[in-house]
Amino acid sequence: MQFRQFRTVDDLHRAAAAQAAASLAARLSTRATVRLLAATGSSQIPFLEALVATPGIDWSRVELFHLDEYVGLADSHPASFARFIRERLAEPAGIGHVHLINGCADPEAEVARLERELARAPIDLAFVGIGENGHLAFNEPPAQFETNRRLTVVDLDEVSRRQQVGEGWFTTLDDVPKRAITLTIPAILSAGEILCIVYGARKARAVAACFNGPPHAMAPASILATHPCATIFLDAEAASGLRLSAATGT
Ligand code: GLP
Repeated sequence: MQFRQFRTVDDLHRAAAAQAAASLAARLSTRATVRLLAATGSSQIPFLEALVATPGIDWSRVELFHLDEYVGLADSHPASFARFIRERLAEPAGIGHVHLINGCADPEAEVARLERELARAPIDLAFVGIGENGHLAFNEPPAQFETNRRLTVVDLDEVSRRQQVGEGWFTTLDDVPKRAITLTIPAILSAGEILCIVYGARKARAVAACFNGPPHAMAPASILATHPCATIFLDAEAASGLRLSAATGT
């Protein structure tokens, strides 16, 4: 894992989009299809806009999965992650093959369906964010670092549910679903390369909890430190609680 820290959030998004585009282009130059895993959430929006605007990516040969979805939320709801992926990545980019998580399906049947799709081939590249409570996708603290499953149904942490209200996706806490389908930590870590985008003061505490010490279950995204090809894109605010030894990797 390496950190890349930026002075402005604009610089961060440009650099993350450039690295993602270069990674996609390199992989597409050597094989027929590239399998991509994308995060949703407010922090991903400018990055995805910059990536979709980058010329030269043959999106028709990209196969897309996303990290998580609320149980019981229709994909017409403004907070639906499936809708987010469709409207902000799949459609504008023109992605050929998209696997959306159906929040209205029977959760265990949906998990089993996507488990089969994910098992067909490795994930090449993943985009992730870090929640205000340190979650990775919807793997809430305490996270399960070891499981044979690629997806699971989880109860959402109240901090996560409040974050969604704070970001404006829902009006009240009661409106936020209490369960979600999420890719597991091992499924996310199986990606060949991971780009993690995390910025703003509201993430400083989670970033410090994740990276100032060894990985631990109460800070789920801390497990990214064990990945050989993960890059954490940070701004100064999100990095403000990082000890120098963590930020420099020494
Ligand atoms: C969201 C999603 C994650 C996302 C994380 C950070 O709720 N479950 O996939 O990466 O929490 O969200 P944001 O980037 O909006 O801060």
